[in-house]
Amino acid sequence: MSPLLLLLTLLPGVCPMKPIEIYVKEDEMAALYCGESSQSNVRTTWKRCDTKQEVYSDMSASDQRQKGVLVLGNSLVILSASVYHQGNYSCSLKDSSNKAWFTVTVCTAQSRACEGKLQYSSSCYTHEACTLSCPDVNIPPVNITSNGIIWHKGEGGALAIDYFGSVEEKDAGVYTCIRSYLYYGQIYNMTFKVELDVQPSKIPQKYILITSPRNNDEVPVDLGSSVVIPCEAVTYTCSDSDSLFWLIGESFVEINNSLRVFYNYSCNNSTEKIKITASLVIKEVTEEDLSEQYICKLESDHQNSDFVTVNLILKVRPSYIPLTLCIVGFMAVMVVTSVVYVKFKVDITLFFRDTLGCHSSASDGKSYDAFLMCYESSTGAGINASDRRCLESILEDRFGYSLCLFDRDVLPGKDVAEAVLDCVELSRAVVLVPTSPDPVGPGSGLLSAIHEALVERQTRLVFISTETTQSPSLPEALHLLCEAGHHVTWRGSSCLQPSSSFWKQLRYYLPAPKHTLKVQLLPQSVQDVTS
Ligand SMILES: *[C@@H]1O[C@H](CO)[C@@H](O)[C@H](O)[C@H]1NC(C)=O
Ligand SMILES: *[C@@H]1O[C@H](CO)[C@@H](O)[C@H](O)[C@H]1NC(C)=O
Ligand SMILES: *[C@@H]1O[C@H](CO)[C@@H](O)[C@H](O)[C@H]1NC(C)=O
Ligand SMILES: *[C@@H]1O[C@H](CO)[C@@H](O)[C@H](O)[C@H]1NC(C)=O
Ligand SMILES: *[C@@H]1O[C@H](CO)[C@@H](O)[C@H](O)[C@H]1NC(C)=O
Ligand SMILES: *[C@@H]1O[C@H](CO)[C@@H](O)[C@H](O)[C@H]1NC(C)=O
Ligand SMILES: *[C@@H]1O[C@H](CO)[C@@H](O)[C@H](O)[C@H]1NC(C)=O
Repeated sequence: MSPLLLLLTLLPGVCPMKPIEIYVKEDEMAALYCGESSQSNVRTTWKRCDTKQEVYSDMSASDQRQKGVLVLGNSLVILSASVYHQGNYSCSLKDSSNKAWFTVTVCTAQSRACEGKLQYSSSCYTHEACTLSCPDVNIPPVNITSNGIIWHKGEGGALAIDYFGSVEEKDAGVYTCIRSYLYYGQIYNMTFKVELDVQPSKIPQKYILITSPRNNDEVPVDLGSSVVIPCEAVTYTCSDSDSLFWLIGESFVEINNSLRVFYNYSCNNSTEKIKITASLVIKEVTEEDLSEQYICKLESDHQNSDFVTVNLILKVRPSYIPLTLCIVGFMAVMVVTSVVYVKFKVDITLFFRDTLGCHSSASDGKSYDAFLMCYESSTGAGINASDRRCLESILEDRFGYSLCLFDRDVLPGKDVAEAVLDCVELSRAVVLVPTSPDPVGPGSGLLSAIHEALVERQTRLVFISTETTQSPSLPEALHLLCEAGHHVTWRGSSCLQPSSSFWKQLRYYLPAPKHTLKVQLLPQSVQDVTS
C-alpha cells in the first residue's frame, strides 16, 4: 500500500479505489466482509469513509446496536438497513494484510439505482430435475443463526419449493427467496429475486440403444476362452454412464475386474452424440454360462427403462462335409461321364458326325474313303458274295462312302500287287473282308507288302472277321494285319440291319466320308500304269 493511498484512506469522504458495491433492501440485513487475516484474532477496523466519520470497531456493543451495525469477526453486519446506512465504508485488518472499500446502497421500493441488483437468474431444462438456489451474497458470519430460506412464487406470491423433479415450462418465472436469521430473538431477512428460465430439453425423450447388440443376439463363444460383449447407448451427458448396466438373469453383474464375470463402462463424449459403452466380460466361458440370459439394461429418470437380451452359443467348428460331398459328387460325375462315353462313344461319335457334319474337310490327296479288300478266311466261314455286295452298296449308297473295289475299280489284266498297292495308297482306310474261298485274294507276299504300306502311311485298317474267324488260326501275314487293325465282327444278319452294332462299329473306325472328292483319279493312274 503506497503512502499516498494510506493518506487518502485517512481522509474523510474519500474512497480511493473502486469500491465493492453492496445493495440491501430497506429494513433488511447485509454483511460486509473484509477478508481473512493471515493471523487469527486480528482486529478489524471498520469505518465510514464518507461524511459520517464513524469508526464502528471502536464502538461498544450497545453503541453499535444503536447504530444498527455489528462488528462480528472480519465482517460488519448491517442488521436492518436504513437510509442512514447508505454510504461508503472501509475496512482494514490491523496487520494491514487486507483492506477493502464498500459502497452500500439501500434499496427502497422507489429507488431506481437498485433495479435488477437484487435479482438473479437461473436456468433449467425441461423434464430435468431443477433446484433453485437463493443467492448467498452478503451473508453474515456463522454467529448469526440462519433460520432457513423461504421461497415464494412471484413477489410475495404463494409459497414454493426450490426443487422440481422434472421441471416444466410453466414453472418458469420470477421467484423470491427470503433468507431469515435469528439474532437475539430478532428475525432479520435478506430477500432476493431469482428468475427461473426453463429451456427446451437437451436430453431426448428416449435413449437409443444402438445396434450392438440387438435384442436376442447370439454371441458365438468357445468354451474356456474369454468373451467381451459391448453394449452401447447414445446419450447426451456422460453423467448418465451408470444408468447402463448388465444383468445375468436377475442378478446384477459387478464392476470388478478381478471377478470371472464383470462389466466395465466408458463414455465417449468426443462426438455430439455421447456414447456410453458397458462391456460385459466373461473371462473363461463355461458350459453353465451358455444357459444364462445376459441382459444389458438402461435405466434413466427421463424415460422408461430399456433392455436387450443376448445369449451365448457355441461356435460352430468349420465343417469339411460340404467340401467332401463336392469332391465325391464331382468324381461321381466324372466316372459316370467316362462310363457313358466309353459305353456310347461309338454312338456319340456317329451322332456328332451325322448331325453336326463333323467331316474332315482338308484335302489329303486321297481319292477313296476306303479300299475294300478280300482275304481268304482259313476256316472257310467268310462272307458270301451277296453279303459282300450288300456290304459295298450300304457303305456307298446309304452312308456315302466312296470305295475302291478290287473287282470294279482295278482293271483286269493289271499287275495285281501293283494295283492293290495303288488302291491302298489312294484310300484313307483299308477294310479287310473275309471271303470263302476267294479267287482273287492276295497272296501272303502281297499281304506283307500291304502291311508295310499301311504302317508307312499310317492308314487306318479295319479287320472284319466272322464269328468263327480266330486270330491264332490265321496265316502269319494276315495275323500281322489282324493285330494292326481295328476289329469288327460280322454276324450272319449284319447286312439286313444298317443300325446294327456291326455298322456302327465299322463306321466308327472308318474316317468320315468325304463327299466332295468325287474325282476319279484311280482309273487314269491305273491306265497310266497299264499303258
Ligand atoms: C462514496 O464514494 C464514491 C466514490 O468511490 C463517491 O462517488 C460517493 O459520493 C461516495 N458516497 C458518499 C455518500 O459519500
Ligand atoms: C462467533 O463464532 C466463532 C466461531 O464459532 C467464535 O469463535 C466467536 O467467538 C463468535 N463470536 C461472537 C462475538 O460470538
Ligand atoms: C421476514 O420474513 C418473514 C417471512 O417472510 C416475514 O414473516 C417477516 O415479517 C419478515 N421480517 C421482516 C423484518 O421483514
Ligand atoms: C473385487 O472382487 C474381489 C474378489 O471377489 C474382492 O476381493 C474385491 O474386494 C472386489 N473389489 C471391489 C472393489 O469390490
Ligand atoms: C473393459 O474390459 C475389456 C476386457 O478386459 C477391455 O478390453 C476394455 O478396454 C475395458 N474397457 C474399459 C473402458 O475399461
Ligand atoms: C470416441 O469416438 C470417436 C468417434 O467415433 C472415435 O474417433 C474415438 O476414438 C473414440 N474415443 C474413445 C476413447 O473410444
Ligand atoms: C468429455 O468428458 C471429459 C471428462 O469426462 C470432460 O472433461 C470434457 O469436457 C467432456 N467434453 C465434452 C465435449 O463434453
